[in-house]
Amino acid sequence: MEKKWWQDKIAYQVYPKSFLDSNGDGIGDIPGVISKLDYLKQLGVDIVWLSPVYPSPLADEGYDISDYYGIDPRFGTLDDVDRLIAEAKKRNMYIVMDLVVNHCSDEHEWFRKACEDPDGKYGHYFYIRERNADGSIPTNWRSYFGGNCWEPLPGHPDKYYLHVFHKKQPDLNWENPELREDVYRMINWWLDRGIAGFRIDAIINIKKPMIFRDYPVDREDGLSDIECMLEDAQGIGKFLAEMQERTFGPHDAFSVGEVFNEKKEEIPNFIGEGGYFSSMFDFGETIFGASTKGWYDRKPCLPEDYKRCVFQSQRSVGTVGFLSNIIENHDEPRGVSRYIPAEELSARSKKALAGAYFLLRGIPFIYQGQEIGMENKTFTSREELDDISSLNEYDVALAAGCSREEALAAVSAYSRDNARTPVQWTAEENAGFTTGTPWLAVNPNYKAINAAAEEDDPDSVLNFYRRLSQLRKNPEYHEALTWGSLKPWLETQKNLMAYVRELGGQRILVSVNMQCEPQEMTLPTDRYDVILSNLESGQEPEQPSGGKVKLGGWQMTAALI
Ligand code: GLC
Ligand code: CA
Repeated sequence: MEKKWWQDKIAYQVYPKSFLDSNGDGIGDIPGVISKLDYLKQLGVDIVWLSPVYPSPLADEGYDISDYYGIDPRFGTLDDVDRLIAEAKKRNMYIVMDLVVNHCSDEHEWFRKACEDPDGKYGHYFYIRERNADGSIPTNWRSYFGGNCWEPLPGHPDKYYLHVFHKKQPDLNWENPELREDVYRMINWWLDRGIAGFRIDAIINIKKPMIFRDYPVDREDGLSDIECMLEDAQGIGKFLAEMQERTFGPHDAFSVGEVFNEKKEEIPNFIGEGGYFSSMFDFGETIFGASTKGWYDRKPCLPEDYKRCVFQSQRSVGTVGFLSNIIENHDEPRGVSRYIPAEELSARSKKALAGAYFLLRGIPFIYQGQEIGMENKTFTSREELDDISSLNEYDVALAAGCSREEALAAVSAYSRDNARTPVQWTAEENAGFTTGTPWLAVNPNYKAINAAAEEDDPDSVLNFYRRLSQLRKNPEYHEALTWGSLKPWLETQKNLMAYVRELGGQRILVSVNMQCEPQEMTLPTDRYDVILSNLESGQEPEQPSGGKVKLGGWQMTAALI
């Protein structure tokens, strides 16, 4: 595969609203991000992905954009973005923005004009349909955030518009070449401004079936899962290839797609050489256990499930392309709370999980706060929730007969708000996030878990992430850890996640004991030279004997073999 500038990079996701507030209004902002660039650099970060900062009514926290060419004053100004790009450049870092073009906001000028004249130019930028002859909605599709996908078009009671997400997020009609041109113009405008690329939001939704029809009803609400519509939609590749050719390709930009449910045979088209995107996220373990009924019916992802999902994704991509690996993002609960059984959660186990995913083949993404081991928050009432999908899932759970406590347990486990509580910088008031009132309450555990406390503690999660970055960048191991193949080792041994990264005769064995009890691992070779471990200072990993080595509880080790 052709070498590209982004393949050996380490990325970090900033969710600006919750990152750092520089002016005391309780909302994180771009100047806040600039002030932490040195901190990110020290963490080993090369690429910073900013979740949306464009003008927005914030119905879906910025994923509902009302102007693609501006910056919401709550987050800063275009000058601030230019400064961010320049300051990043000084440090050899890159800024990646969020590209949200499956839909815009219902407050975007395009949609306003579509409402004024549904048969005019902008009417064709959206999916607008008449009511069915019997007065019913055009199709029975359920939106991701609950309820049906159709909303009456303001001012036109006989018409509906399509929104696969919230009703304030009308879907853009990608079949219309004029719309596509507008999108490409905007992408190029940002790339010309100096950003290094985009994370591409919800992109698999841009292709709809040519004929809109109903699918089997799967809940009491009489609607069908939106996945049925996606399954039925053929030919997204044409749009994605065109976008690549017109925008990312000529700019040699980094693009990472939010792609779910890809089929193995499509992977080369998506992220192979000359593919639609540079990379796409691995969501294998993220979607594990999901239920069409809702969050209340989800199965937890145990260490064995985690391992199986990750290896399956690694296998299906092989060396065809580069996955982007995560344990969490702004749409998911905290990875440490999700993949480590609650009673086993500790700095040691957090570091073990970090090591397990960070050294996989692909681009490691760190989500803000992950590097200090931030955990889920317990939500004790519906009023504490902000996120629209959590509010919906709470109601879905109650409607399905769950008690209030059960519904709260489901949202506490899976709410997107878990990832959106402010970053815990210090043990001071509001975790040092703001001098005002934070827009979303901080996690009460900030006195124990915060960046300042971890800064000088050699055994902290933060310092372990720094060591992981240094290992990937160390010239001795950099090539194998970037371009090397990955082969699972002793895949069926319970709660052992081990794999070998190999390139040109160099082999690095990564092994993680995902349980509190020690366990023994047979070694593939006689050599076992440890280059990194998550044990506390003063502790040494055990030496092998008789071709085996003993791993302590939640021990993670990387060794040359
Ligand atoms: C993506 C975003 C999510 C948003 C949705 C609609 O999944 O990551 O936050 O709600 O798209 O834009
Ligand atoms: Ca602010």
